[in-house]
Amino acid sequence: MKRTIIVFGASGTIGTAVSARFEQEGHQVVRVGRSSGDYKADITDVASMEAVFKAVKHFDAIANAAGDVASHPLEEITDESIGFSIGNKMLGQVNLVRTALPYIADKGAFALISGVLTNEPILGGVIGTMVNGAVEGFVKAAAHEMPRGIRINCISPTVLAESPAYHPYFPGFVPVAASQVAIAYERAIFGIINGRVISV
Ligand SMILES: NC(=O)c1ccc[n+]([C@@H]2O[C@H](COP(=O)([O-])OP(=O)(O)OC[C@H]3O[C@@H](n4cnc5c(N)ncnc54)[C@H](OP(=O)(O)O)[C@@H]3O)[C@@H](O)[C@H]2O)c1
Repeated sequence: MKRTIIVFGASGTIGTAVSARFEQEGHQVVRVGRSSGDYKADITDVASMEAVFKAVKHFDAIANAAGDVASHPLEEITDESIGFSIGNKMLGQVNLVRTALPYIADKGAFALISGVLTNEPILGGVIGTMVNGAVEGFVKAAAHEMPRGIRINCISPTVLAESPAYHPYFPGFVPVAASQVAIAYERAIFGIINGRVISV
């Protein structure tokens, strides 16, 4: 059955693969980003997201692949870099869900993004580990309070093969292809799981 899926961060490494997979499966993909896509919106700006949901009118799922975090050695972390990261990858995703809830279809689904840092810290990744943990905590708890049969899950990829600039910071980690991460989004959105973190 053809579904309409809004992909946030659709122009990024993960978002491109997710969008391509859903289109290959015959679904309608609505691409969103700050600077490109069918609609422009910022996950740190609730009004910009609400405008997208009002314009799209009917959608069955949101796949989010947007969310920046700062990366610094512990002693270089600042209030600003913590605030930026919480506001973007953490609160941005929380507000994406809260803003979309009145608009998403019954039995709809959300797939948010965290990452391997939650359970496997790396040097310079303190904020990433903090923020990913918060996103996963939100997903696990919010799943129990989702109305109308709506589900929510979180995708936690390891470092991507397509992101070689990150590889020196992940010594001994086996990179994963973005196309594999896209399969996890498919499971999160079209499967029956709820409140789960899917590690890829
Ligand atoms: N790459 C990896 O190895 C890896 C591994 C594990 C987890 N992750 C996580 O996966 C997520 C995506 O990573 P990626 O490598 O695919 O990133 P990416 O290639 O930099 O793409 C990010 C995408 O999100 C959009 N975006 C960024 N901030 C946004 C915002 N505030 N509101 C709306 N759209 C926004 C960007 O487009 P615009 O600039 O046009 O908005 C772009 O389309 C990140 O949270 C990252 O931490 C990545």
